[in-house]
Amino acid sequence: MSDQSLKSVAEAARANAYAPYSKFHVGAALRSDAGEVYIGSNVENASFGVCICAERSALSAAVSAGARSFDELVLVSDATEPVPPCGICRQALAEFAPSLRIVSHGVNGKTAEWSLAELLPHQFRLNESNGFTE
Ligand code: THU
Repeated sequence: MSDQSLKSVAEAARANAYAPYSKFHVGAALRSDAGEVYIGSNVENASFGVCICAERSALSAAVSAGARSFDELVLVSDATEPVPPCGICRQALAEFAPSLRIVSHGVNGKTAEWSLAELLPHQFRLNESNGFTE
């Protein structure tokens, strides 16, 4: 799926965002290496800590469907400036795609692009690389 189509899919997901508290709507389209596309939107809750971001919604849908590696994430939000994923989402995405390409669109046509490695240069890992042995 092209970048433009991924943006359209993310916009459709943003329309389904449940954000009555922040009023900030986010949609995500996550493409797997196999070319499948998974969508997510932010889902808020009266207990604010329960809220989940669009990025992790998409990641959960993808992993639940069996996907394990990804090459691109496209985001759309209500902000004029393109938003990058929050810190929790960076760590969550890095588990599966440490060098993911991330494209984000603001509402006025402004676009930004990052690699996840640039946004999260030192992800936490639980393995021999940080001295952890079972
Ligand atoms: N949010 C996302 O869905 N993705 C981001 O990258 C940043 C923030 C959501 C969480 C919450 O529902 C609302 O935006 C305001 O923080």
